[in-house]
Amino acid sequence: MIITIDGPAGVGKSTVAQLLAKSLGFEFLNTGAMYRCAALASLEANIPIEQADKIVEHVKTLRFEQQGAKILLSGRDVTARIRESDVTKLVSPIASIIPLRLVLIDWQKEFANGRNIVTEGRDQGSVVFTNAECKIFLTASPEIRARRRTDELIAKGQQADYTQILQDQIERDQLDANRPFGALRPAEDSVVVQSDNLPIEAVLELLLQIAHSKMP
Ligand code: DC
Repeated sequence: MIITIDGPAGVGKSTVAQLLAKSLGFEFLNTGAMYRCAALASLEANIPIEQADKIVEHVKTLRFEQQGAKILLSGRDVTARIRESDVTKLVSPIASIIPLRLVLIDWQKEFANGRNIVTEGRDQGSVVFTNAECKIFLTASPEIRARRRTDELIAKGQQADYTQILQDQIERDQLDANRPFGALRPAEDSVVVQSDNLPIEAVLELLLQIAHSKMP
């Protein structure tokens, strides 16, 4: 069975998708981490965004692995590195390179082959797994998402400027929603979950109910 969870930046998809996968005994796939790895790889190889073909060729030589919440790029633990601001700034333009999306979509389908998975991203229900049994679109207002992200960073002892975070997030949402292929949008047959006033436990409970109702 495939469960897709799509939605905008900072909505908590990754956390709730991981919890859902654990509760159901499914594997979890974080596709945003794949795009982040591609952005990191292009930064480290000094390939400018204008040289899309080179970026794609380079990414094809790499190996993406996910061990629970840990992300490995060709064997190196990049879990924290891919969350840093230089990668976050570059990732949306990188995700607009269509041939790159096609490579990563192949990786995503390979990962899902023969498995029960919860996969999260932007296009999992609308483009990649159009036949998924259960499709969820998780959303929340930009202000709530930026507030959550700010609090998260402060709790980790890092500096966080709410206004800047909100501004960056709005820009990334716009780029993500307006790309010609793989844009952020709910699949027609998805269940839209608005999480503004819900604590994470309640979101998980709701998602579990939806998943159970779609089980064959
Ligand atoms: O979920 P995230 O913030 O880690 O995603 C990073 C970027 O990757 C985000 O700007 C959108 C892009 N992305 C995408 O285009 N398609 C996906 N399936 C997942 C992420």
